[in-house]
Amino acid sequence: MQPPRQYRNVALIGFMGTGKTTVGHQLATMLRFQFLDTDQWIEERCGQRIPDIFAQKGEAEFRVMERDAVAQLARYSRMVIATGGGLGANRENLASLKSHALVVCLWASPEGIWQRVRHQSHRPLLHDPDPPAKIRQLLTERSPVYREADVLISTEIRTVREVASQIAHQFQLARRPS
Ligand code: S3P
Repeated sequence: MQPPRQYRNVALIGFMGTGKTTVGHQLATMLRFQFLDTDQWIEERCGQRIPDIFAQKGEAEFRVMERDAVAQLARYSRMVIATGGGLGANRENLASLKSHALVVCLWASPEGIWQRVRHQSHRPLLHDPDPPAKIRQLLTERSPVYREADVLISTEIRTVREVASQIAHQFQLARRPS
């Protein structure tokens, strides 16, 4: 039999540009939790920005750093954790997050994502000759794992506040003694 789940934290996974950081800040305020962003965590420990890590060390090394970050998160409580878009697309990372957090996947269509990220330049994976096609390709590859989150929420038809409120509600339900 599986041991009962522990819901000490909320982890937000999902594709780039789905609003994990913005929603995460709002949710942390609502729940009176601390906010942690795994990309920022890696940048601080590494002393380098994500594009420089990709350029100098490569994506594979960045994924190792993400796995290290995920392992550290298990000791935290009362945290809202926003993750980089590739982190929650890895089944081992997802299992680790589920050991201490309610895992919520923020969802948006490829078109909606493109509209949100098209004027930003800090995402190395979108430095591509055809970014909308790259978004569709990555989303197709990653969707099967994203869908294994505990909760899936579309961010396209709701305000940041509405998304954060829904997650707070789901979190309270998950924590209710059965
Ligand atoms: C990535 C998403 C980025 C960042 C890195 C790789 C990805 O985070 O971790 O550029 O693989 O989807 P955001 O989802 O916060 O943009």
